[in-house]
Amino acid sequence: MNLILFGPPGAGKGTQAKKLVDFYGIPQISTGDILRANVREGTELGFVAKAYMDKGDLVPDEVLIGIIKNRLKEPDCKIGFILDGYPRTVSQANALEVILDEINKPLDVILNLEVPNKKLIERISGRLICRNCGASYHRIFNQPKKEGICDICGDEIYQRSDDKEESVQNRLNVYKMQTQLLIDYYFKKGILVTLEGNKEIDEVLEDIKVVLAKLA
Ligand code: AP5
Ligand code: MG
Repeated sequence: MNLILFGPPGAGKGTQAKKLVDFYGIPQISTGDILRANVREGTELGFVAKAYMDKGDLVPDEVLIGIIKNRLKEPDCKIGFILDGYPRTVSQANALEVILDEINKPLDVILNLEVPNKKLIERISGRLICRNCGASYHRIFNQPKKEGICDICGDEIYQRSDDKEESVQNRLNVYKMQTQLLIDYYFKKGILVTLEGNKEIDEVLEDIKVVLAKLA
């Protein structure tokens, strides 16, 4: 199964991707997690990316295209993949099509999670993530079993630096101006499925599984 989880910041892409990894055993490829890992490890890529990420701007396309090209060629993607946070521009989507043609892995579906803006802000401002594995929690809606500790890997959870109020509004604007138009791009290709993302986490998961079951 080759799929994209799509939607604005805070839509629940990362949350659902982690659950789908557990259920289907295919890898999650989160460009946000990859970039944050580079920032944490102090790589040159991390240094470049941090300036964009902290402001809520997109990291340049050529950087992201290079990352995705290498990642999709790794052996674990042979059985499928869940893209989370990529593509975000038409140029990234076009590049993806070329890469997937090359490795002969056509996309099965784009799952577009729809959530009202007010809810997105509420979700992002309360979010905490794991420093190690990137799992998402929420101070109210999705608390870890033990305060400050990731349920999955036991590492520390923290607030992302781009979840500050001043970056959040910019991220939502960037989504609207540069990323949202991909909905129409994939609709025209006939592989877009839009789902109500403003439901309980497990309800959204069930809706996703129904869509994916029809593809299997
Ligand atoms: P990225 O990490 O991808 O962030 P994002 O797209 O802004 O999306 P989020 O991670 O904020 O939201 P999400 O949909 O994953 O929501 P989550 O599941 O965590 O990118 C960060 C930055 O990296 C970008 O701004 C950019 O600079 C750069 N970047 C990354 N990819 C790039 C690319 N391709 N091109 C260029 N630049 C790129 O959920 C949010 C919160 O809500 C959590 O607290 C969660 O617990 C809670 N929640 C989830 N679902 C529910 C629910 N159903 N009900 C209640 N609460 C819920
Ligand atoms: Mg995410």
